[in-house]
Amino acid sequence: MSEHFRVRGGARLRGAVDVVGAKNSVLKLMAAALLAEGTTTLTNCPEILDVPYMAEVLCSLGCTVDIDGDTIAITTPTELSHRPDGESMRKLRASVCVLGPLVGRCKRAVVALPGGDAIGSRPLDMHQSGLRQLGAHSDIEHGCVVAEAENLHGAQIWLDFPSMGATENILMAAVLAEGTTVIDNAAREPEISDLCTLLTQMGAKIEGAGTSTLTVHGVEALVPAEHEVIGDRIVGATWAFAAATTRGDITVRGVDPHHLDLVLEKLRIAGAEVTFGEREFRVVQPERPKAVDFVTLPYPGFATDLQPFAITLASVAEGTSMITENLFESRFRFIEEMMRLGADARTDGHHAVIRGIEQLSSAPVWASDIRAGVGLVLAGLCADGDTEVWDVFHIDRGYPKFVENMTALGADVARVNA
Ligand code: UD1
Repeated sequence: MSEHFRVRGGARLRGAVDVVGAKNSVLKLMAAALLAEGTTTLTNCPEILDVPYMAEVLCSLGCTVDIDGDTIAITTPTELSHRPDGESMRKLRASVCVLGPLVGRCKRAVVALPGGDAIGSRPLDMHQSGLRQLGAHSDIEHGCVVAEAENLHGAQIWLDFPSMGATENILMAAVLAEGTTVIDNAAREPEISDLCTLLTQMGAKIEGAGTSTLTVHGVEALVPAEHEVIGDRIVGATWAFAAATTRGDITVRGVDPHHLDLVLEKLRIAGAEVTFGEREFRVVQPERPKAVDFVTLPYPGFATDLQPFAITLASVAEGTSMITENLFESRFRFIEEMMRLGADARTDGHHAVIRGIEQLSSAPVWASDIRAGVGLVLAGLCADGDTEVWDVFHIDRGYPKFVENMTALGADVARVNA
């Protein structure tokens, strides 16, 4: 059935919101469970569509996955299949993270190219190159990444770019390789540190978590573990932008504010008052936001996933902002939808120039990915009248209880079955 959100403009969001575990962490932690025979348990998991999609991928490999509220128990058998179901693989991007664990444990993987957000070309060359350096042969054959190794051995690996996915796959293959692997220019996102924490609990020997050099001393086998997923900094930042954009007052609980240092500093420049508690922060925006420039970069830079919210903020800010996108070229597709709402925006290659206007004008708009969908809902809150946001299944893939949270903060957002 086709669904959309009807968003009524005008609300200033106020209240408190609890953020649970990070999508971009839990899905990789689920893949990590493949590395140890037995039951690995994850808590503080978000109830989002990508979790059962990832469970489908693991079940197609022979695992049993039990999802009970915010707890996921993954039981991995002694004998694993090396070929996950192709259709399940194509439902999400993070499915590609079974590649490293399968090569590590089975020395063989045939993994269909993943799906996920259409935000630009998302090659796997660094994933493959890393696995090759660990001793595997890897090619793309008939729509699948094929990787095979007689033996995996440690290696010195320099990544061209600190890719999250490549870091995760190489790390999860290296934990069971013979000898020491050093991954240089590794991604430093908090979700990578979270993965290192779980792997270490499972018996892996990893040094340098959270830095750009990860040193992995391979071990023979890992054991299952229990782990609490870190709070979702991208969802936390979404609510921070929601407060700043709607001139509201939101307390965000369950996220480490230090994961959002740069984001919160940018919002301060836009005129927000930001205060901190332990694993919580509050953003109050008393007046119309001021224009701010944003440049997307790997962590600790400004996350590309937050770029749509930066554009929404800039669209209603006082003054002109420049947004620079350095990771995914198609993310500016979001701007076409913002222009339906009256945003004054121009793009030129990697840059977008946005001249803020007082109020947007409601219209039907289409979400092209998870973050774009939420960006359009925030924009709808700053428009006159009712905005329809279509293709909201994207939002359900990444935001637990989205409409409930919006309503609790005073927004008039309704899910409509057409
Ligand atoms: C992850 C996140 C996504 C986020 C992105 C960047 C998940 C499920 N998704 O995606 O939400 O926007 O990190 O923070 O965790 N690249 C290559 N070759 C490769 C791998 C990557 O050229 O082999 C390029 C990509 O095209 C992109 C950049 O590296 O320009 C970063 O991509 P990467 O960090 O790998 O993103 P994902 O892990 O796919």
